Amino acid sequence: MSASADRFDLVVVSNRLPVDRTVGPDGTSGWRRSPGGLVTALEPVMELSHGAWVGWPGVPDQEFEPFVAQGGSRGGSFHVFPVSLSEQELERYYEGFSNATLWPLYHDVIAQPLYHRVWWESYRSVNGRFAERVAEIAAPGATVWVQDYQLQLVPRILRRLRPDLAIGFFDHIPFPPYGLFAQLPWRRQILEGLLGADLIGFQRAEDARNFSRAVRSLLGLSSRRGTIEVPADPESGMGAHLAVFDDYPISIDAHEFEQLGRDPEIRERARRIRHDLGDPHRVLLGIDRLDYTKGIRHRLKAYGELLDEGRVHVEDTTLIQIAVPSRERVETYRRLRDDIELTVARINGDHSVIGRPAIQYLHRSFPRREMAAFYLAADILLVTALRDGMNLVAKEFVATHVDNDGVLVLSEFAGASDELKTALLINPHDIDGLKDTIVQAMEMSPAEVSRRMRAMRRRVSEDDVERWSDAFLARLRAVSDDNRQGLAA
Ligand code: G6P
Repeated sequence: MSASADRFDLVVVSNRLPVDRTVGPDGTSGWRRSPGGLVTALEPVMELSHGAWVGWPGVPDQEFEPFVAQGGSRGGSFHVFPVSLSEQELERYYEGFSNATLWPLYHDVIAQPLYHRVWWESYRSVNGRFAERVAEIAAPGATVWVQDYQLQLVPRILRRLRPDLAIGFFDHIPFPPYGLFAQLPWRRQILEGLLGADLIGFQRAEDARNFSRAVRSLLGLSSRRGTIEVPADPESGMGAHLAVFDDYPISIDAHEFEQLGRDPEIRERARRIRHDLGDPHRVLLGIDRLDYTKGIRHRLKAYGELLDEGRVHVEDTTLIQIAVPSRERVETYRRLRDDIELTVARINGDHSVIGRPAIQYLHRSFPRREMAAFYLAADILLVTALRDGMNLVAKEFVATHVDNDGVLVLSEFAGASDELKTALLINPHDIDGLKDTIVQAMEMSPAEVSRRMRAMRRRVSEDDVERWSDAFLARLRAVSDDNRQGLAA
């Protein structure tokens, strides 16, 4: 498959490409669509608009030619432009600055952020490379949508290179409160980087407020009704423009998950999962990337105590915990895995009986259809994140439960809690509260379960991902048109 030398009217740029490199046992290589919220969110838009996607293919020290990604759920295709990273950039830009500086800083410093100047230098230069690649392939006046915290400098670099483009940025993770953001030695550069965009999107209104406070305090720029006047920068030749910011809570392809929830094969698979667990009366489920932001330890603590106290019994209840491997070379993630696995082993050692594990723990990723079967097999989903931009697993669980069964226990620190108001909302730090809520979920009457789930399903199916991306892109074009007119005036 060869990519054309075309220029593209819509270019999406993210750290990670929505495809993974695969190498078969016979040595033949190919590309496979990768799982994850961002792909779920943007793939349909890309397929519909035949756009291009710029990103890293997930392996270091390898150059790949552009290619066309085929075979998405809607039968479309899009061009893929791989950006390569060296092993050293992988360590400094990705594992270092992105995932050991920004990630913990933006997630309430749950883990200690590390500030290293060589990491910052790498972040800057890799952001520059991404921006240059986009500048090469974007058609005149094209729309460019930059994704997430790994690429916060791209909007400004791109505006300098290509002032004709409409530049959008979406932050998938929280934007931290000022008191935390202010720790960052390169806080001004990050804000200036973001302000290169015409439109900056956040998950929650609270994130947008945190951003506006940081811009005011650190750059002395005030916002009026979500609009910031970004002054010209004579040094770089960048003209003045207006940057608009707002909250755009991301969603899922709700229709796809509804269909999976109705699929007889998947429903049968869900029954099979329950059967293989010994047909317990109640199945609880946790599905998370193995990340310290997800509150897996808090969940296990609560569950272990419920077993200790005899409020939950292994004879009729099982917890399935799926931990998807993530960022395994970063030290905090390695320690977290050890911690979680020790805790699971202890709880199982104390409580399991033959053929009835207290916790069925799976450390791997699953295809989407299998995930849907797990959602359906579960009576209760536990989302206990300590901080989470949105949490798409919560929305996927809701969309899949087409029979309006299933209870969602949802952390108020996950963005999804702004919308899924009939979930059982919890503070995961309050272990007693969490325990009581789990018991409440287990005892809830079917009528109440159905009433709550119905309301959540309505919300998710109305505000699905297509609506999200359409709304963002429409606003982006409008803001960019205003900016162009302003330039012309
Ligand atoms: C979060 C981030 C994404 C990231 C994903 C997986 O959802 O917002 O930008 O791609 O985690 O993490 P990874 O480091 O494997 O790309």
